[in-house]
Amino acid sequence: MADWFSVLRPALYRLPPEAAHRLALWALVRCLWPPVKATLIPALEVRALGLYFPSPIGLAAGFDKNAIAINALLGQGFGFVETGTVTPRPQPGNSRPRLFRLGCDEAIINRLGFNNDGLEVFIKNFNRRDKNSGIAGINIGKNKNSSATVADYITGLQVVYPYADYVTVNISSPNTAGLRDLQRGEALTQLLSALIQARAECVLTYNRHVPLLLKVAPDLNDEEKEAIAHSALAAGIDGLVIGNTTLSRPPSLKSRHAGESGGLSGRPLFARSTEVLQDFYRLTGGKIVLVGAGGIFSADDAYKKIRAGATLLQLYTAIIYRGFSVVRNLQEGLATLLEKDGFTNIRQAVGADVRTQPSCGSGGVNHRHHTSDEQD
Ligand SMILES: Cc1cc2nc3c(=O)[nH]c(=O)nc-3n(C[C@H](O)[C@H](O)[C@H](O)COP(=O)(O)O)c2cc1C
Repeated sequence: MADWFSVLRPALYRLPPEAAHRLALWALVRCLWPPVKATLIPALEVRALGLYFPSPIGLAAGFDKNAIAINALLGQGFGFVETGTVTPRPQPGNSRPRLFRLGCDEAIINRLGFNNDGLEVFIKNFNRRDKNSGIAGINIGKNKNSSATVADYITGLQVVYPYADYVTVNISSPNTAGLRDLQRGEALTQLLSALIQARAECVLTYNRHVPLLLKVAPDLNDEEKEAIAHSALAAGIDGLVIGNTTLSRPPSLKSRHAGESGGLSGRPLFARSTEVLQDFYRLTGGKIVLVGAGGIFSADDAYKKIRAGATLLQLYTAIIYRGFSVVRNLQEGLATLLEKDGFTNIRQAVGADVRTQPSCGSGGVNHRHHTSDEQD
């Protein structure tokens, strides 16, 4: 049977990118996008963050900002779906045009600016999902015109806590002025300590521990990476998502939209984001879960991210160019690559490329990959 996406692709591509995205979501919500037959591959099952992931391949934040299509998206074969970014109050985002396809580069530039319906509508939508259909995380952010930055994140955490399987704190979108400053210095320490304290209160109130992840940018210097790794470990953050879109523009870009402002995602982001992932694996010594995102298109890409230190993976832009069938292709290809290298489960391959490199100085990882989940 022909892949549904290849049938629809010419029509979707004739529409402006945002209209195509809306139409795809509309079709998903109405179950017009046929679900794939679920196939469980034992080598790809992951226990991490205290959760069971049937597959490490997840959908990255930003595709389903208002949590309207979780069941349908999980039905496309993802091991988990990250919804959001949601901000406390609804906001329209930046003015249009704000989303650009860089077709010949297999990339996207977006400067959407957290367009979303706000927490109240989000939670109503989120709770309509079938809770048995799979893992759904919630990515939280701050409102553009809010001066109470920390308070926005705490509100987000408190409101989503009872419902989320995990929460990602997005401090790395390039499209909200000042947001990325939260990745540095005193601002980061203050935010993390407020979040950890709020989470501790939520644990007592709801009697459940919801993992807290931090989503970082791929545009960080060595000092910033070290400080984030140190602060995350010290605060007790459960994981890092590495990472968001980049403000850099590789000279290889050919598309006429390459000069648009905003965050670049897709293929040109792969090398940079994988390097940053590898740095964070080294800096955190495999002690917390790293989620690898940025330019994953093939099983080879996915495997490189795992070997660089990712326990879980996320993708977005590949869906725009390849459709949802990319998920199944990644899973099958990943299983083959693991088997070829003699790994019976993906966990054994996590950080393999970092662990085999000679360690130089204090940052080297030359010990066994270990997280608390291995004791489960
Ligand atoms: C159109 C678009 C919207 C996005 N919106 C968000 C968002 O709201 N929150 C977020 O944390 N990341 C957002 N992202 C970033 C993705 O989640 C992901 O981190 C990034 O695109 C790298 O992965 P990719 O190369 O597979 O797309 C967005 C990306 C795109 C392309």
